[in-house]
This record gives sequence, C-alpha cells and structure tokens, in this order.
Amino acid sequence: MNPSAPIGVFDSGVGGLSVLRAIRAALPYENLCYVADSGHVPYGTKPPEYLQQRSLTLTRFLLSQNVKAIVVACNTATVAAVADLRATFPIPIIAIEPAVKPAVLATQTGVVGVIATATTLASQQFLSLLERFGSGVTILTQACPHLVRQVEKGDLTSVVTRALIQKYTKPILMAGADMLVLGCTHYPFLRPLLDEVVGANVTLLDTGAAVTRQLSNILAVQNLLNPSQLPGREEFWTSGEIKQAQSVFATLWGEAVNLQPLPPAFA
Ligand code: SIN
Repeated sequence: MNPSAPIGVFDSGVGGLSVLRAIRAALPYENLCYVADSGHVPYGTKPPEYLQQRSLTLTRFLLSQNVKAIVVACNTATVAAVADLRATFPIPIIAIEPAVKPAVLATQTGVVGVIATATTLASQQFLSLLERFGSGVTILTQACPHLVRQVEKGDLTSVVTRALIQKYTKPILMAGADMLVLGCTHYPFLRPLLDEVVGANVTLLDTGAAVTRQLSNILAVQNLLNPSQLPGREEFWTSGEIKQAQSVFATLWGEAVNLQPLPPAFA
C-alpha cells in the first residue's frame, strides 16, 4: 500500500464533511477523497440490505481511486454495513459510533440525550454501547428524521430547522440532560442552532475528533501516514445533483470545491 495514496471517506450525503473537517485539521498532509451519496440520502429510512449494497458500491469506487484506508463517516451505514465491509475488503476500515461513553463519564445531572437516526438507535451496536456504558445514568434517545434533509439542503438556520430542533430536543431537555450526543454526522453542522436551542448548560458531543484519532493511530501503526510535507489535496464526488450540491458543499466545507459526479456504475 502506498502511504501517499488518499484516505477515502463516504457518507449518505454531506454530513460526513464534518468528519472530513476533523481529519483535515489533524492530518494536513494527507490526500482525501470524499464521496457524498446524496442521490440516495437519507440512509436512515432505508432497509439494511440497501445500505449494505450502497456501502459496498461506494467502497468499490473508493478502491478504484486507490485509497489506502476508508472512513465510514455515517453512523447509519456503520451499523448496517461495516462488518460486511471489513469482511470483504482487506484495507483499514474505520467506523464511527455515538459518543455515549464520554457523555456518561462527563454528565453531572445523570441524564444524557442521544439524537440519531431510528436505524442507528435500534441497532445492536447502539444497544451494546448502552449496555456497556449506560449503567447508573438515564439515557434518552430521540430519532430526528428531518434534520438530515435540512442539512442536505444547506438550511442550517431557518425557522423550520429551529422548530425541528426544538421539537426533537424538548423531551431530553425537560428530563434535565446536560449532555447531548450527536449520533449522526450531519448534526454537527447544526451546532450554532443546537447551542442556541439547548442552552449553555448542555454540552454537545460529536465524534469527528475520536474517529480522526483512531484513523491516525491505524495509519501510524501500519506505516501508512503520508511522509509528504506538502498540504494534502481533497477530491469531492457525489451521486446527487451537482449544481444543487455545489453551493451546499461550499457552505459546509468553507470554500468552493471541485465537485465531480460519481461515475454511473457507482451512482
Ligand atoms: C441519513 O442519511 O439518514 C443519516 C445517516 C447518518 O449519518 O446516520
């Protein structure tokens, strides 16, 4: 495996850009190849077989770009497909899980909220997280089916998005939570609004930094860190509508990007 090869990252859509930002900040010399499966978003309402199929297809595409490792920057794809991916492809595959453990360790009120897709919350992996780390505290979960759509549209601040956040977080806040786990990579883009709605006494936890640490460790152990001292490049691909996606990508990534259509065989 070539250490200067890119790291592949995929998500159901633009949410994984929140993870890509964390990777870019921590690993400035790495080349990155990001795929947004926005033609198939949301994943949260799709059956597991569909998600497994899409995850296999996107992984094959990333391998065709000669990536040296893959980050599944999507909680729902992780619970549906990561075991399959790891059993099928012999390269490092790094997955994501909601930050339940740090939230439980940090809570003062003993109440932790978790927002994610219904698929993530119902998964065996999530139930096992609760079993391992959730004893002695109250953990309230809430599926947020419409937030992904708002982020995909680049609507991070409207009254509609605010009302959805108010509705989804109300039961968690009423129960006295002081930690809110963002169990979907789209949600960190809603941080400013989430912060406003939940208030200063509630800490938001996402997983970008933890995944990046895991990725760095795996690359280091396998001698796969890029030895280059030049700034890394990014490539962006989408299975969605390019024109519409350009401005959302620019908003979320912080600058205009050269967004390419996923080849038809993978879209
Ligand atoms: C979605 O596409 O429904 C969101 C997937 C996720 O990040 O869990």
